[in-house]
Amino acid sequence: MTETARVRTFHARQGRISPLTASRLEELMPQRSLPEGPLDAAVLFGRHAPLVLEVGCGHGAAAIAYAQTHPGHDVVAADVHTPGLARMLAAAERAGVGNLRVHHGDAVALLEARVPSGSLSAVHVFFPDPWPKARHAKRRLISSQTLDLLADRLRADGRLLLATDHEGYAGHALAQLRRHPLWVADVVPRPTWRPLDGFEAKGLAAGRRVVDVRAMTRAGGA
Ligand SMILES: C[S@@+](CC[C@H](N)C(=O)[O-])C[C@H]1O[C@@H](n2cnc3c(N)ncnc32)[C@H](O)[C@@H]1O
Repeated sequence: MTETARVRTFHARQGRISPLTASRLEELMPQRSLPEGPLDAAVLFGRHAPLVLEVGCGHGAAAIAYAQTHPGHDVVAADVHTPGLARMLAAAERAGVGNLRVHHGDAVALLEARVPSGSLSAVHVFFPDPWPKARHAKRRLISSQTLDLLADRLRADGRLLLATDHEGYAGHALAQLRRHPLWVADVVPRPTWRPLDGFEAKGLAAGRRVVDVRAMTRAGGA
């Protein structure tokens, strides 16, 4: 998909970045960012291990927790939101997390242009922007187009983990997955490794129910 044809799934944010964010990026991003070109995880992480992409990681609590609790896996966490990524970089550094790299940009563009077919073991999407207004629904990350893309980039036994506290989005995602010929999906218990943080904590504090979904391609089984 061309840059102009791709739907923007995130909110365009303006504004200056703080000196703290700028210094964290300058100091910590070079060691964690992806080199140009196709994503070669074996070169990037210096080993062959299951590769997980988190799309829309925010300030990274889930990505860091996953990396810490799955030391045999490698994680790429992507977001467009600069202050969140800077916070994640600082937290990952403090915690000494070695199996985490960061992409600052549109994860859909990354998937399209630089992630090889069959290279991902899992894709995590936690609390995606719900785009609740009907006229914005086309901006939702879970769509038949992104499900085509994810099905191609995942290994046959790979999985998509999705969580949302937006009832409308849960219904939307399950409907998209269940009508897609390549996917099977189920509502599953919340993964115990995911910290109660970020948008999940806000949703629970506001009394909203969180729905977790696990989906696999038909090639990999239910
Ligand atoms: C509602 S926030 C949730 C953040 C985090 N996952 C959490 O649970 O706290 C959604 C995030 O997804 C990011 N996002 C949306 N579409 C994206 C895309 N195509 N590529 C990268 N990040 C994206 C937004 O910038 C935002 O930070």
